[in-house]
Amino acid sequence: MSDDIENFRLAMRRVASTVNVISICVEGRPMGITATAMSALSMDPASLLVCINQAASLHGSLADVSHFCVNVLHRSQEGMARMFADSRQHALRFTEGWTVDCERAPRLMEAQASILCRRTDQHRFGTHSIFIGVVEEVAVRDDVDPLVYLNGFYGEVAA
Ligand SMILES: Cc1cc2nc3c(=O)[nH]c(=O)nc-3n(C[C@H](O)[C@H](O)[C@H](O)COP(=O)(O)O)c2cc1C
Repeated sequence: MSDDIENFRLAMRRVASTVNVISICVEGRPMGITATAMSALSMDPASLLVCINQAASLHGSLADVSHFCVNVLHRSQEGMARMFADSRQHALRFTEGWTVDCERAPRLMEAQASILCRRTDQHRFGTHSIFIGVVEEVAVRDDVDPLVYLNGFYGEVAA
């Protein structure tokens, strides 16, 4: 690996991110993935983007569905982060804690925030695709205590 790539990896390990589960429903079947690569994009229209690896199981379906939901995880939801990042746990992913709306997208109850988006654009780059969503509905949890990921570990934000 070149020094630049290794240094980029080290730099990214020093960037703290909130942890999200991106959820969709495909022909009645809920799917999701743990993703830190999420960013607000614009306020007019209210929109965000997520970056998804083309090898992830939901990637192909995300390109087809009308909606996706960004579930920003609460600190108490580290187990969800681990489950949606572990391909051996596909069968367990939606058994508890979810409202599965298959008209649009599943929503994680008790999430720090749930941001339901209408999927609009998609852009492939390298190993990933950027998906853009226009915000349609938002729910937030009153206490502000998100799960964060930094230097390979889960943690919390000390205000
Ligand atoms: C903390 C963390 C953050 C992650 N962020 C992303 C991400 O932003 N985009 C992505 O495509 N995969 C990301 N992943 C990897 C996926 O969660 C993982 O590959 C997942 O198992 C893919 O889903 P699948 O098993 O259904 O294919 C992340 C994993 C972890 C543990």
